[in-house]
Amino acid sequence: MNTYLSIVNNMDFNTLLHEKAELINHTLAQLLASQQIDSKLKESLKYTLGTPGKRVRSALVLWCCELAGGQVNRNAEIAAAAIEMVHTYSLVHDDLPAMDDDDLRRGLPTCHKAFDEATAILTGDALLTLAFEILAKEIDEPTIAVKLIAQLAQDAGPSGMIAGQMADIKTSMLDTGCSSSIQNRVSRIEYIHTNKTAKMFRCAAAMGAICGGASKQQIDQLSEYGLKIGLGFQIADDILDVSASSEQLGKTAGKDAKAAKCTYPAVVGIDKARELEKKLADEAVAVLRPLGKKADTLRQLAMAMLERTK
Ligand code: IPE
Ligand code: IPE
Ligand code: MG
Ligand code: MG
Ligand code: MG
Repeated sequence: MNTYLSIVNNMDFNTLLHEKAELINHTLAQLLASQQIDSKLKESLKYTLGTPGKRVRSALVLWCCELAGGQVNRNAEIAAAAIEMVHTYSLVHDDLPAMDDDDLRRGLPTCHKAFDEATAILTGDALLTLAFEILAKEIDEPTIAVKLIAQLAQDAGPSGMIAGQMADIKTSMLDTGCSSSIQNRVSRIEYIHTNKTAKMFRCAAAMGAICGGASKQQIDQLSEYGLKIGLGFQIADDILDVSASSEQLGKTAGKDAKAAKCTYPAVVGIDKARELEKKLADEAVAVLRPLGKKADTLRQLAMAMLERTK
């Protein structure tokens, strides 16, 4: 076993994540308070951003900035808030009746249930545009702002998360046509998960590295790490959908099979899905080798993702 992995202590990791989540929540609340917005929209934005998400992607921004630059700076706080806004928008839209049609998110009614469908669509739109507005206005160095904006647009956009969401809704396990062979399904699911989820993790890692003044080589290494833990993260999400309860998850369990979603447990079975998740975590840790001891928190993150229960 890798020596770094043997020192992993998940209690410590949860404390580290909690610390970062507090900073992210504070930044989000501060950024929202300074906006002049219609009162109902403001209420729904407060509601969705205030719900207790795990803040994993935004914490990753902060950790990658620390790794590259020694400490979290204001640019990283803004980048973390921006990625959390885009992630939250993706959930609000993912839950809409036209997509996954979910009632429960982060232990509370989904945005369209707490408000209404039109407000949820506009809340998602507002979160997405606000993310780019804060990057354009609050990052202290124009060249850094442009890099962050380009990275986020690329990974959240039609060659990233949107591509994955589109493929997700177009793909069904009930399809018995030529794309239903096991090999075709495996490459399809890899495409879906890489795009809808892993690219947002890559984005978080790259944005944090950029804020910390990382070299091109470090940005590439951290991006590769982000892709691997992101793919593992979505496999864990699929496994939890079949193995955990709605109370535990804070979202409706067992929905993927009902909707005939193409997921790792559906395509390769739960044991193989777990094996793959573990392999990706090991590969992510291996990518960090050249970064030495300062990447310990990222090693802990890769391993904690394997044990997550929500
Ligand atoms: C849910 O992401 C959507 C997926 C890509 C699986 P998270 O599990 O990070 O959701 P929150 O932010 O903690 O609610
Ligand atoms: C959603 O994947 C990924 C996004 C880009 C939002 P899922 O549809 O599996 O996420 P949950 O299970 O609803 O959180
Ligand atoms: Mg979905
Ligand atoms: Mg969903
Ligand atoms: Mg899911």
